[in-house]
Amino acid sequence: MSAQPAFLMTEPSHYGVSYEINPWMRPRVWGADPAAHLLRAQGLWRDVKAVIEREGGAVHEAPGAPGLPDMVFPANAAVILDGRALLARFRHPERAREETPFGVVFETLRRAGIVREVAANRGIIQEGAGDCIWDAARRLFWVGSGPRSSPESAAMIADHFGAEVVSLPLATDRYYHLDTCFCPLPGGEILYYPPALDEEARRQLRDRVSPELLIEASDDDAQRFCVNAVAVGGALVMSHPSADLEQRVVERGYRVAGVDVSPFILSGGGAFCMTLRLDLSSIDEPHAIQPAPRILQEVAA
Ligand code: ARG
Repeated sequence: MSAQPAFLMTEPSHYGVSYEINPWMRPRVWGADPAAHLLRAQGLWRDVKAVIEREGGAVHEAPGAPGLPDMVFPANAAVILDGRALLARFRHPERAREETPFGVVFETLRRAGIVREVAANRGIIQEGAGDCIWDAARRLFWVGSGPRSSPESAAMIADHFGAEVVSLPLATDRYYHLDTCFCPLPGGEILYYPPALDEEARRQLRDRVSPELLIEASDDDAQRFCVNAVAVGGALVMSHPSADLEQRVVERGYRVAGVDVSPFILSGGGAFCMTLRLDLSSIDEPHAIQPAPRILQEVAA
């Protein structure tokens, strides 16, 4: 019944860690042996891609560019819904230089019929799907702000897509993008790391999500970037979780497809950041696993 879920990933030959714009970034560690780190990163990137494909995803590869190591994280390049891409505007100059090459990537996707519209950002800082995550079960965007995307980005997204948006101000620089600490699952559960959300964000969550649907990540699992997960079919592609977290998601009917993203954590990214879902739709949820009955009630309420 459903088309294949489609993802964008950026070919990693220009990846590296050469500056520090978040507390995870380790340019000195990378710089001690860049060739070895790159070789390892390229191998593990191919593994992530292969796992997504094995789970039924289609991966479109974008080229990277020299001097733009963080293009390997296309989650930050745009927000996409119903074939409409809204290009990102980055906070830091190191990443703002990605805006033009990513614009070319999306134009290419448009010409190939993979997205149907590409819109420029109106000048508000908004770092793509890293800070604007579609919740297919509730049909709304959860929008992070603070360290990177500006609080005004929520209204811009609501207006552009005509979609419901819930603002989640972030509490710490360590969890600087929403996707590092918050992951809506296809069945309506929310995997998240509570300390990363500020008081207002936690209130929003309490108001909208019944407690039995909340899956809290431990400090350890959050630090290993397990929350930065990609749902494909019934699998969660994520950095190898603890036995405890794995058991809790398995109880909900998911399978964990564990990946090693350690070279990317040296830049502050995990599996979700390394991808951008291209085919999200506001009217159906063709790739969602069957939502649990209580979600249907909650959504209908
Ligand atoms: N070094 C990159 C940055 O600081 C990592 C981005 C990871 N992407 C994400 N969506 N969390 O911007």
